[in-house]
Amino acid sequence: MSLTRRELLRASPVVAFGALSPGALLAAVVEQSTPMPDLSDWGQVRAQFPLDWSYSHFASFFLVSHPKPVSDALDAYRRALDHNPYLSLERAMFSGPEDNLLLAVATEVADYTGGTVDEVCLTGSTTESLALVYQGLTLEPGDEVLTTTHDHYSHHESIRLAAEKSGASMRKISLFEDSSRPDTADMIRRLQAAITPSTRVVGLTWVHSSSGIRLPIQEISAALKSRPNAPLLVVDGVHGLGSAEPKVAELGADFFCAGTHKWMFAPRGTGIIWAREESWARLRPTVPSFTDEEAYVAWMQDAAPATPTNARRMMPGGFEAFEHRWATAAAFAMHRKIGRERVAARIAELNGQIKDGLAEIPRVRVHTPRSPEFSAGVVTFEVEGVPTREVISQLLERRIVASGSPYANSQPRLAASLVNTPEEVEAAVGAVREIAGSA
Ligand SMILES: Cc1ncc(COP(=O)(O)O)c(C=O)c1O
Repeated sequence: MSLTRRELLRASPVVAFGALSPGALLAAVVEQSTPMPDLSDWGQVRAQFPLDWSYSHFASFFLVSHPKPVSDALDAYRRALDHNPYLSLERAMFSGPEDNLLLAVATEVADYTGGTVDEVCLTGSTTESLALVYQGLTLEPGDEVLTTTHDHYSHHESIRLAAEKSGASMRKISLFEDSSRPDTADMIRRLQAAITPSTRVVGLTWVHSSSGIRLPIQEISAALKSRPNAPLLVVDGVHGLGSAEPKVAELGADFFCAGTHKWMFAPRGTGIIWAREESWARLRPTVPSFTDEEAYVAWMQDAAPATPTNARRMMPGGFEAFEHRWATAAAFAMHRKIGRERVAARIAELNGQIKDGLAEIPRVRVHTPRSPEFSAGVVTFEVEGVPTREVISQLLERRIVASGSPYANSQPRLAASLVNTPEEVEAAVGAVREIAGSA
């Protein structure tokens, strides 16, 4: 028997949609939403953010300030949910494709990532995405996950927890001695030399929040894939998504994990995993899905789904902050309107200005490669003789918000994004010059 979720709901006496024409609730939301503003100049883009402009924000990659198109969508969905929670949710989650908001979000995401809508899984953060992937892999005792010393806590811990549970092991190698002088061939050589017959997975980060380096993932992936029994490649891509130009589907990652609440400007508490159909089939879900009709129908029949795992089945279910999830589409639409090439070029230009400026200051060492090909929007540096905390606090005294990299060897970071201007960059570089000069 094959009953769809919709048919099951229709068969149920508790569901009475009769009074509403299809799509009425969501059409009302769309009607209330303001159209996407003109984003053709950077002043207009900057004006979308309700930031406190008495500061210069060089840490907005840490957590998004919701731009107006996103907060408008959030407000509209919140109003719809508050107005009629049950009917809004039923329409948005379980009715036909024309009303299905998760499908609408995944379609918008797929337009940006490349690939198809069936390759997109919506999650709550980079951390959750990584955990779902590593917990979902069927690792066994004797298997190894190879990663690097440069990755984030969330990535290392996702691997460690999955390895501990399965009896697999993890190992970290260094990809370079000096992050500011990237050498693709050397990074590939180091990885290739470290891979053993037990290496089932390689975990890497696209843009490092430790040094700002952007790894040549395409070249690395091509080298890994040329091996017999190629290990799977898991990429933490959070600081490349929305700041670098290449499309996710073209990177060569088997699993691409990213929060969308940083560079993409999607609501706080949102993220994605991207993978191809054959990669999804390798995973076992951890959290019951509310979006995979087949899992639900199988459960009604007291069975497990018979088909291979797919992106929908990996999507963590449970009722959530739906307005945040749904408004994700507005953020991706905003990026589409600005244009991915323009976004990447602007970020490269502003961060290039930071690197050029810092490079001229005696006693300042920049850890991020100068080349835009090997970097994106994060610049890390150090001021000789001045501890990281002191650099950040002296910048803050000048109303410049910088961050420290959250690693054992923490360094100051200036990350210019679409909310910044060349004048702000000049002032930030000038402030570092003063700090270095007075130390
Ligand atoms: C490289 C990297 N990965 C993962 C994370 C965690 O991201 P999320 O907050 O989306 O879980 C961060 C945090 O900024 C990060 O820098």
